[in-house]
Amino acid sequence: MKTLPSIENAFLLIENGVIKAFGPTSVAPERADEIIDATGKFVFPCWCDSHTHIVYAGSRENEFVDKIHGLSYEEIAKRGGGIVNSALRLANASEEELFDAAWIRLEEMQNFGTGAVEIKSGYGLSYEGELKMLRVIKRLKEKSKLTIKSSFLGAHSFPAEFKQNHEGYLDLLINRMLPQIAHEGLADFIDVFCDRGFFSPDETDRILQAGARHGLRPKIHANELDYSGGIEVGVKNNALSVDHLEFTGDEQIEVLRNSATMPTLLPSTAFFLGLHYSPARKMIDAGLPVAIATDYNPGSSPSGNMPFVVALACIKMKMLPEEAVNAATLNSAYAMDVENELGSVTVGKKARVFITKPLSSLAYLPYSFGSNLVEQIII
Ligand code: NIG
Ligand code: FE
Repeated sequence: MKTLPSIENAFLLIENGVIKAFGPTSVAPERADEIIDATGKFVFPCWCDSHTHIVYAGSRENEFVDKIHGLSYEEIAKRGGGIVNSALRLANASEEELFDAAWIRLEEMQNFGTGAVEIKSGYGLSYEGELKMLRVIKRLKEKSKLTIKSSFLGAHSFPAEFKQNHEGYLDLLINRMLPQIAHEGLADFIDVFCDRGFFSPDETDRILQAGARHGLRPKIHANELDYSGGIEVGVKNNALSVDHLEFTGDEQIEVLRNSATMPTLLPSTAFFLGLHYSPARKMIDAGLPVAIATDYNPGSSPSGNMPFVVALACIKMKMLPEEAVNAATLNSAYAMDVENELGSVTVGKKARVFITKPLSSLAYLPYSFGSNLVEQIII
């Protein structure tokens, strides 16, 4: 986590969209078709944002004001706000509208230096709604130059008509939605919100096993609101990542240490909801890697600003700048299964990098929180 190799006075050679060579300028090739002078600036691999919900309709700033008045995230959800509120709006939105709104968010994220994005469904909560969202994500994949992965999050919340009939919703999810999604090749991963008041570890287990039968690896929401058992059930099902983890103790750290699951922290959610932050320092000191991502969504993190997430990781979770950059690049690339092509400046990987404005040091990036120091992005 602490080691972030860098070269001062360096060159980087890109050929046909791939990193061909890099090293000290003393051994730089003598000519190239196009030369960019980055004197005084830094070149970074693009951020990989491995956890977002950017396909949504409308916004929820009314709930934001309710929160200022003192209501909690769970109280808002109980009053019909929250995820169910976004589901209502989504039901009334066309694929076209959803696509256009998500496209604008993607462009904004790219301007912050993001080169790869995972996007979840989960505001459909019905057969039609979930498929609609996943088809929008598929179109985004086809049209965008960014690398996009999609996760099926039908188990984001129980829709109102299934509040008293969990079995009925699991049946719909497992026996109707999943086969169709697999048939159309609409998802790369499967996600469940495993937390107090949402899906139990047993329900999560059943959904993840059904996903596995269709070849979908889990990336789940866990332990945001409580010690929910989410980390344990994620690791048991060989999840690629378990995300949020505000509630992580010694036992959960031990479970993660013996796994291939990437703990993924979402500090802008803790920031926006006023939750306490995940114990990143404790996890890293225990030998765990961590990834960080934005969780961009209308309810708990209405922002896709990766540099701000990097700054929060340093300011609020006491991660070193080197650790935060690793968490937002190579580790988050792992958490969305693109680490062989993105996430670092490595010969043979995709040449997806950003050049900063002039910077005095690496630490200046999180230190100047709120600024956008990204000057140019190469996709
Ligand atoms: O990652 N925790 C669950 N889902 C989202 C919030 C979604 C919403 O409130 O719309 C999250 O924080
Ligand atoms: Fe999320």
